[in-house]
Amino acid sequence: MDEVIGLCRRRGFVFQSSEIYGGINGFFDYGPLGVELRKNIKDAWWQDMVHRRDDVVGVDCSIIMHPKVWQASGHVDGFSDPMVDCKESKMRYRADQLFFSPVIVEGETIGYVSALEDAGMEKEAADKAAEMKRKLAKQGELAPVELKPYTEADPSEYEKIPSPATGKPGSLTPPRDFNLMFETNVGAIRDDSARAYLRPETAQGIFAEFRNIVDTGRVKIPFGIAQVGRAFRNEITPRNFIFRSREFEQMELEYFISPDEEEWPRVHREWIDRCKNWLSSIGLRPELVGEDVHPQDKLAHYSQACTDLTFHYPFGVQELWGIAARGNFDLTQHQKHSGKSMEYFDESRKEKYIPHVIEPSVGVDRIFLAVLCSAYEEDEIGGEKRTVLKFSPRLAPIKAAVLPLVKNKPELVERARALYTRLQRRFPVFYDASGAIGRRYRRQDEVGTPFCLTVDFDTVERDNLVTIRDRDTCKQERVTEEEAIARISAAVYGE
Ligand code: GAP
Repeated sequence: MDEVIGLCRRRGFVFQSSEIYGGINGFFDYGPLGVELRKNIKDAWWQDMVHRRDDVVGVDCSIIMHPKVWQASGHVDGFSDPMVDCKESKMRYRADQLFFSPVIVEGETIGYVSALEDAGMEKEAADKAAEMKRKLAKQGELAPVELKPYTEADPSEYEKIPSPATGKPGSLTPPRDFNLMFETNVGAIRDDSARAYLRPETAQGIFAEFRNIVDTGRVKIPFGIAQVGRAFRNEITPRNFIFRSREFEQMELEYFISPDEEEWPRVHREWIDRCKNWLSSIGLRPELVGEDVHPQDKLAHYSQACTDLTFHYPFGVQELWGIAARGNFDLTQHQKHSGKSMEYFDESRKEKYIPHVIEPSVGVDRIFLAVLCSAYEEDEIGGEKRTVLKFSPRLAPIKAAVLPLVKNKPELVERARALYTRLQRRFPVFYDASGAIGRRYRRQDEVGTPFCLTVDFDTVERDNLVTIRDRDTCKQERVTEEEAIARISAAVYGE
């Protein structure tokens, strides 16, 4: 992970927000290459989920909506995570990410160990337990540690579990609910009547606009409404770089279907497969993508089913894309709270109903991180180590670099600049004339540029051909400019 974060910083993909003031936890800025990669991810999603489908339309809703939206959706009362404070260190943890275990020797509990959720937490806890047994000079067999989240601790155990910050027991509070919505005030008066929220998901904008889309959009069930936009959550423990942040972007789609019992399991499965195939189509290595089916007893009360597509990040297997069958909970709630009908008249069945919905919801930033981790490789070319990002050409921030072999031959430079201008009309391209040619190739490999085009003496003096170099194979071929453009187009647009 450190290598990926280092590369992001060094080559201008992602920076900590407000770095010059020491940074602000959970917020990030995207630099020149990051902004291109992010845009390419969003464009690819929009093209494939909206433009290339007959049954999906888009919306772009405001970030701040009427506060009643969030009462109806259940976010005001229920959108919270359990939080635990360490009174001594003033550190704050998510109680479901803080794990503990009693340390038992020969049936006697000699103390407790704790660890924060992490791929290595089992080992960390086992080492701490062995250390405790040694320090207390206890004889006999140490029982294996069995970690449980702090949310499952018995109140009598709170005082005994050590704080991860101090390593000592006695300073952790019981878990308390912490609402994740950011509050703000609308207008000049700052009282309860002016309280509003930064949206914690884009989905509710879609539900709130359902009536308008049906009345104006010529849509027929089954159909989807898609939205890409910022969401804000005051996460207790933002972590793992951009994986869990406080300001992020979502790509959400609400796919409305009839309430027929047999409809939702079929459409739910179709969307799981579609999303999984889409991840492969943008270049994620399939062996890193998995499925996690939520057990029935862990589902939210309104949810019929939820399957996460997971990704094997360097810090563990984590949720990337949630695909939920939400029944008709949201539209029913908005009908109740707004007093406006959310019923849909189905012409083909000559009946009215509140549609059910399948919701694939994914974070742009989580895909961004998965794309980087999947593409990152270190290999050796001609005995020299290189770092390469094997982005699919569709997502690559720069599609091609134009490199004059030398920078002090005016005819050669002029020719390379002309080719660069020609390409610039079609793709984001980069011109680089400084340094040895091998080093220039490495610089492009490191930012994932799929093609380099080199203009050399033969180009201007002999054959009019340029050298096209492939990032992944490092193979070089001499081709006409037209052929080079055709190859780049085919790789980027799949034409
Ligand atoms: N409308 C449903 C919804 O918002 P969610 O599981 O809370 O469901 C959906 O969020 C997706 O949004 C997640 O699968 C993840 O990709 C992304 N996401 C959620 N919280 C995030 C955070 N704090 N930082 C980055 N991405 C986040």
